[in-house]
Amino acid sequence: MAEFDLLLRNAVIFDGTGTARHEGDVALAGGRIAGVGKLEAADALEAIDLRGRAIAPGFIDVHTHDDRLLLADPSMAPKASQGVTTVVVGNCGISLAPLGSRTAVPPINLVANGEAQRFDSFEDYFARLALEPPAINCAALVGHTTLRVVTMAQLDRAATDDEIAQMQALVQEALDAGALGVSTGTFYAPAAAATAEEIRAVCAPLANSNALIASHIRDETARVLESMTEAMSIARSLGVRQVISHHKVVGKANFGRSRETLALLDDARLDTDVCLDCYPYPASSTVLRADTVAQARRTLIAWSKSMPAAAGRYLDELAAERGVPIASLIADLQPAGAIYFAMDEADVERILAYPETMIGSDGLPHDVFPHPRLWGAFPRVLGHYARGRRLFSLETAIHKMTGLPAARFGLGDRGVIAPGAAADLVVFDPEHVRDTATFERPKQPAAGIDAVYVNGIVVWREGHATGARPGVVLKRAGH
Ligand code: ZN
Ligand code: CU
Repeated sequence: MAEFDLLLRNAVIFDGTGTARHEGDVALAGGRIAGVGKLEAADALEAIDLRGRAIAPGFIDVHTHDDRLLLADPSMAPKASQGVTTVVVGNCGISLAPLGSRTAVPPINLVANGEAQRFDSFEDYFARLALEPPAINCAALVGHTTLRVVTMAQLDRAATDDEIAQMQALVQEALDAGALGVSTGTFYAPAAAATAEEIRAVCAPLANSNALIASHIRDETARVLESMTEAMSIARSLGVRQVISHHKVVGKANFGRSRETLALLDDARLDTDVCLDCYPYPASSTVLRADTVAQARRTLIAWSKSMPAAAGRYLDELAAERGVPIASLIADLQPAGAIYFAMDEADVERILAYPETMIGSDGLPHDVFPHPRLWGAFPRVLGHYARGRRLFSLETAIHKMTGLPAARFGLGDRGVIAPGAAADLVVFDPEHVRDTATFERPKQPAAGIDAVYVNGIVVWREGHATGARPGVVLKRAGH
């Protein structure tokens, strides 16, 4: 009997740890990596000669809003096409569970829409994902904003003790089901009135555990340092690991201030466990807001419920065409989403290159005209930033997408090519891998991704989903 199910031969192996690439074979058996090195073809049911193509651990997208996409489009094409084999959902304070039947107020409408795919608990959500598995793996955070919508009648104030107790119980339910931690989004209206004290209390079940807090901070513009300090004080006092979400500095007046924010992180890291994620573009995307439009050089409309034809149009052009002021057009478009050109490229590069920065797409999969990060984030880091700009080596780029996030998110047996690890793998062309999604044509699969394996099963090959759905829910260690 053959020892291995599949032998991938003569590959350039990037093992995810950041150490130098080397040539060798990778053997798979029972959904796991069974051997790495010089192996005999006779020992495998099937052998594929990769002839110098690269192989890496499947990429881990640590910042997503794919909560509903996992069920709505189980092929997970926007992610599988990039070589992503695991997504972390429930970021920015917004999670699909345990929203139940409550109204999906903005920004929860970025993930929840309509009556379908609604869940009262993480137990229910994970059970559905087990019944209707997606092509790739997922792990989940519970969103503080979602918890506020579930427990509070009025969102424009801090939570009462009773509401905090209800939210704590929901955090505990999520943790017991296997969620990785809590995300917060005090930038957004439904959570803007939450004090640091409220969040600390709601997150009390996380104290001194292996759960984590992912923070979309209150302000990424003029008050970015104060907002980071506030968020970090919460995690520090609870003794839990923290991820500062989609780190950036927004608005022309703040260009260059990533020097200050990264220095603040350097200081914080002396005595706390804090890291960050980043998407590789100088434009952001979220719901349409006048204050964010005001920070941006230009704004592109991603979707509009009241004016669907506006998707893909620039706000200023549309306002001129219709002869209306920008402010009234913003109001007329609601509810809506947008893409904001409001960052400095030098800040993006400085943040991406920071050693504790992981890659997270922050893609918005239900947008009509999405930010290209949804389809392009990972190949853009490999092609544009590593190979083109030489911001870091391909080894470092891959570490930021694999070994580093697996360690920070506690995904123990993922993120490395080593015997015993889960067989989540991507085979690609290191000379040609690149993003093709642009702000003009945002829904384009990456070039140079040959094959993607999830738990040993090929889910994407040469530009197409295979239809296989081997993805599992990755639960917090101890579950
Ligand atoms: Zn966010
Ligand atoms: Cu986000």
